[in-house]
Amino acid sequence: MKIISVVGARPNFMKVAPIHRAIEKAKQNWADTNKLQHLICHTGQHYDEKMSKIFFDDLELPQPDFYLGVGSGTHAEQTGKIMMEFEKILFKEKPDYVLVVGDVNSTIACTLTAAKLHIKTIHVEAGLRSNDRKMPEEINRVLTDSISDLLFVTEKSGLENLKQEGAADSKVYFVGNVMIDSVAYYLNKTDTSEILSDLNVEAGKFILVTLHRPSNVDEPEQLKQIMEMLARLSKRRKVVFPVHPRTLKNLDKFGLSSSVPDSIILTEPIGYIDFLTLTKNAELILTDSGGIQEESTYLGVQCITLRDTTERPVTVEVGTNQLLGNNLELAEKTANEVLDGKKKQGKIPELWDGHTAERIVNVLLQLEKETK
Ligand code: UD1
Repeated sequence: MKIISVVGARPNFMKVAPIHRAIEKAKQNWADTNKLQHLICHTGQHYDEKMSKIFFDDLELPQPDFYLGVGSGTHAEQTGKIMMEFEKILFKEKPDYVLVVGDVNSTIACTLTAAKLHIKTIHVEAGLRSNDRKMPEEINRVLTDSISDLLFVTEKSGLENLKQEGAADSKVYFVGNVMIDSVAYYLNKTDTSEILSDLNVEAGKFILVTLHRPSNVDEPEQLKQIMEMLARLSKRRKVVFPVHPRTLKNLDKFGLSSSVPDSIILTEPIGYIDFLTLTKNAELILTDSGGIQEESTYLGVQCITLRDTTERPVTVEVGTNQLLGNNLELAEKTANEVLDGKKKQGKIPELWDGHTAERIVNVLLQLEKETK
């Protein structure tokens, strides 16, 4: 069984790392280890050292077997370039499966390429829906799921969404969350991280911020208002804000960089272990990321999501996440309440137990047995 897993953008690396580990472990029990082969293809959608290489180091991922080097571009350029380059790899390697994770442009590009060559495709993190087709990720999710052969789901809402869209039950598996596998696996490494002292912040006494969604950072007025809100909050607690390249560009372009007060600590994007350390120790997180909504829920950390919708409703229904949309007044009021001690209680969602990748690999091995 030959599997090619695809990584492209930052949130992919921590999802493929546990799958790679679980396959390596399965190989040890496999009678003929040569028969199970896992290859990694990096599309190069993200390419900066701090957006890519640092994750391979932190997550102990082997160097990718293939690097497509596609880089940035419009959606069509990026998707098209990935497809053209990935097709060459598939012609040569003829894998049994292509495994994709998440919802980025690399996810749909590689799924579409494989499906047209009649290579079986596996989507890990299937079924999530924000129901907002203005998000490029939503288009990627819907399309990827509709042409994938196996759909591995992180939360129950995913099962309902797939059912509603007519996905056959036989290809859907509720297995939990591979991103949480990485959190659980690497949590003890946070003890050695020096990021808190490097940034001169105290555990439990700072606000962590990440922003990169076009709806928040591509609109000058929205970004300005967010920065003003952060400046006010930073009078109460230091704000740590690792800045995504898209956001950095726009802060400069909209003339907002120079007015950032010292109490907002702007940094470059931060590697996996250091960022996990920040997440675990934050008093409050303000974000528009999907993954951070899940990581904060797992760690029981207060999270305010600056988006109107979430494709991960379990983080709101069960976890510590509060979805406050673009209503910045309400977000600021809620943030102040959290700092006053009014915390949202949360629980860990079902099957977010650190063993999702093993369950996925077991399903694949079982299917392989059945076809023999
Ligand atoms: C992508 C994903 C998004 C994910 C995010 C995590 C899509 C449609 N979007 O958004 O779902 O949450 O990654 O970061 O796939 N850039 C750099 N260096 C890099 C990468 C990007 O400078 O290593 C800059 C480029 O100017 C680029 C811009 O960031 O044009 C946006 O990068 P892109 O990959 O298009 O989308 P993201 O906003 O990162």
